[in-house]
Amino acid sequence: YKKITTKSLIDMKAHGEKISMLTAYDFTMAKIVDSAGIDVILVGDSASNVMAGHETTLPITLDQMIYHASSVVRGAERALVVVDLPFGSYQSDPKEALRSAIRIMKESGGHAVKLEGGKEIKESIKKILNAGIPVMGHLGLTPQSIYKFGTYTVRAKEEEEALKLIEDAKLLEKLGCFSLVLEKIPAKLAQQIAESISIPVIGIGAGSGVDGQVLVIHDMLGMNNEFSPRFLRRYMNLFEGMTSAISQYVNDVKSSDFPNEKEQY
Ligand code: KIV
Ligand code: NA
Repeated sequence: YKKITTKSLIDMKAHGEKISMLTAYDFTMAKIVDSAGIDVILVGDSASNVMAGHETTLPITLDQMIYHASSVVRGAERALVVVDLPFGSYQSDPKEALRSAIRIMKESGGHAVKLEGGKEIKESIKKILNAGIPVMGHLGLTPQSIYKFGTYTVRAKEEEEALKLIEDAKLLEKLGCFSLVLEKIPAKLAQQIAESISIPVIGIGAGSGVDGQVLVIHDMLGMNNEFSPRFLRRYMNLFEGMTSAISQYVNDVKSSDFPNEKEQY
């Protein structure tokens, strides 16, 4: 695939090729992630946590998401760029949801939007899709509802919630979503859902039986030491690497080792 489209992802699922997805929030990171060969870049509202330092994803605004997304779009050549609609920009009514999605597409140049929820936001998803904007769904542990859940623990362990999840996944497929994220649910349930729908299911903490995986880039690069859920694999310890590089710089400045003869004019 020279350039990834929503169609490529559906194709990949049909051919059994797994889909790789990571978040990015700025130009430089997007450029690195894109050149490394990622299929999908998600401009996640997790920017609220990792970029702005908020406790939850709720405070980030549509304007702030558009700023992050436009930076990412300028850094991505091959990957599909999906942008989260932030909390408060789509829940109150379908017209507002469409207005928000249109702003993201026009002002950031992103290729698709992602919304959290199933049946509750059915009319909004329909309206956005009718405008020609591709929609990715997001079910399971949906962080914008953290105050309803009260905890970041695994969702849909009980039958009632699992059945609703299956119904919502089938609804999202029927509405015309091109893909769907399942976050922090039992692996068996996620696999069952992935096998029962034709659109690709991207998992985070949802096991290996789905069609692709997504992680927050800061987490997988080990930029923070505190957040260690079971589903996270750290591919680097950038926190240690960066800390030691920076403290070395501090020492070199203090000792007048930097700059040396060759590092000046
Ligand atoms: O905002 C985000 O980073 C996400 C992914 C973790 C799916 O929604
Ligand atoms: Na998100």
